[in-house]
Amino acid sequence: MTNLSLLSTLSFKQQIALSFSRSASSYDQVAQFQRQVADQLLSHLPAASMNQLLDLGTGTGYALTTLCQTYPSAKVLAVDIAEGMLTYAAQQNTEQGSITYLCADAEALPLAEHSVDLIYSSLSIQWCRDYPRLFKELHRILRPGGQVLLATLGPRSLYQLRDAWSVVDDEQHVNQFSALENLLFSASDFQLACQKTQMINLGYTDLDQLLKSLKALGASVVEGRALNGLGGRQRLRLLREAYERFRQADGLLPLSYEVYFIHLSKE
Ligand SMILES: C[S@@+](CC[C@H](N)C(=O)[O-])C[C@H]1O[C@@H](n2cnc3c(N)ncnc32)[C@H](O)[C@@H]1O
Repeated sequence: MTNLSLLSTLSFKQQIALSFSRSASSYDQVAQFQRQVADQLLSHLPAASMNQLLDLGTGTGYALTTLCQTYPSAKVLAVDIAEGMLTYAAQQNTEQGSITYLCADAEALPLAEHSVDLIYSSLSIQWCRDYPRLFKELHRILRPGGQVLLATLGPRSLYQLRDAWSVVDDEQHVNQFSALENLLFSASDFQLACQKTQMINLGYTDLDQLLKSLKALGASVVEGRALNGLGGRQRLRLLREAYERFRQADGLLPLSYEVYFIHLSKE
């Protein structure tokens, strides 16, 4: 089997794990948006004492330093579906507190019920496809009185890229993200403590830079598409032309993210 046909047999989750593992060493160089979101989410960490924390979809482990400093006596579980991300995170965080790295799927966590005091997850759960299952898992592992801090993406994210691709063909090139109502409906076993939606706009000099940065993040996996190229020069030329209509007065090509910040608690 060739590499390409092997890649086309992978499930969406296997593609995510492979793509993020491959991008572990390039991720931090292009993750300005992810840092901005994480910093906002971390500024809302509850001022309570914690025994067991979970950083769900830890990636390169950016949040681990702040989690360990804020809760010095807590144990931190850094979970990710991408083994390569965990290996990288462990190499970066050699002097932090008590961190255990665990390769697992957020929708099927190998953790005991009522075992976690705080679940922190920044820009990771948008990769899950079964939100009722995800929130059931989070509810199961959280102890009564525990809290969940989430940042995830809404459907207006990447709308310029989706729109430009629609000029090229009818295929899906950009993932769909769930609306807030659907997310909160799936999380209805929890109490909603607080929610905020924010549009964050990034700017790129050209489309190549924009696409390269998505790839370097590991975020160019699209459900239903094999992990291969964009499909030839002609299509890329059409995409470039279609994207041009979004070019801003400052000369940059915009890419927007709709970010949901969600704070849940369990009775
Ligand atoms: C955009 S990165 C965010 C990483 C980190 N939280 C940050 O703020 O930089 C998304 C991470 O979620 C992980 N991920 C995606 N789907 C997952 C799942 N079902 N279970 C656990 N981790 C998952 C990816 O492997 C990736 O490391």
